[in-house]
Amino acid sequence: DDVEYNKICDEHKHLLETLPKGSGWSIQHLYNYNGFWIDEMLLKAILLLDTYFKSEPTDIVLASFMKSGTTWLKTLMFSTLNRDRYSFSNHFLHNNHPLSTIPFLGMKSYPMTDSTTFSAPRLFITHFARTLLPACMSSCKFVYVCRDPKDVLVSKWHFMCKLRSKDLTPLSFDEAFELFCLGVSEFGPFWEHVLSYWRASLESPDKILFLRYEELKKQPEVVVRKLADFMGKPITMEEEKKGVVWEIINLCSFENLRNLEVNKKGVEKLGNFEVEKQSFFRKGEIGDWKNYLSEEMKDRIDGITKQKFQGSGLIG
Ligand code: A3P
Repeated sequence: DDVEYNKICDEHKHLLETLPKGSGWSIQHLYNYNGFWIDEMLLKAILLLDTYFKSEPTDIVLASFMKSGTTWLKTLMFSTLNRDRYSFSNHFLHNNHPLSTIPFLGMKSYPMTDSTTFSAPRLFITHFARTLLPACMSSCKFVYVCRDPKDVLVSKWHFMCKLRSKDLTPLSFDEAFELFCLGVSEFGPFWEHVLSYWRASLESPDKILFLRYEELKKQPEVVVRKLADFMGKPITMEEEKKGVVWEIINLCSFENLRNLEVNKKGVEKLGNFEVEKQSFFRKGEIGDWKNYLSEEMKDRIDGITKQKFQGSGLIG
């Protein structure tokens, strides 16, 4: 109701005046809320989610630090779960951008309608760290995808430069690198983000499927079978014989998606931002960081990763 909503607006206003501020990549300011850097609009989204979001135990949430492979995973999850609904020769994804497959949690403005793809399970996407999500979501299942932070940095820098407000001076790669290392980047720090889901996955392994972009690149068929199992719709023997796993992989491949007319032209709205549809498909490779980072920069990021992930079980 309005009283509740006005209370949230007041709290939002109060937080914007009191939270620590840092440099944004696409807009001027980020705010540090419970350890993570987010912008004004995302902060409001979190407060709204806290009050209005009603989770279902059957909900499945795709979570990631932005630019870690969300687009790929969302198309894989969507087409795996709905594989009886569309034929691979005439698929929803042929005519619709991946952004229209699974809704972002909390991106709908008030009043918050529960966005549903189809019947249960509902699928959602979030870039928020696990600890920022409402407590009721502890009953949901999560698929988390992570990626080499060096590639995430490069991918994010390209993407954010496109979104960056024209009122600001351009963000150089060196500045972005420095901010990334300090943890000051939308949804960051990167390492704490990964750890928030990693820790949750250790506590409830059956609730969180923890994936890596790199393993998906190397063995997509293993990951698709895992996804199907995890979402409660295992690939049957008959489907295996028909080659369904590879139908899904080929449909969602970088080459295929990038070359579809629907993903080449036009813009999509991302909250307050307009973004070119094609900007979600840049290179889709492992190791593009080699074209951007000096030896010294590489060592610095790898050093941070080692220090932050030591003892967590995330690295050997
Ligand atoms: P690059 O910028 O390194 O090319 P997100 O989807 O989380 O925003 O991540 C975007 C990154 O995933 C971009 O990386 C993009 O090119 C890559 N990507 C998008 N679709 C992909 C796909 N189907 N397969 C592999 N990588 C993909």
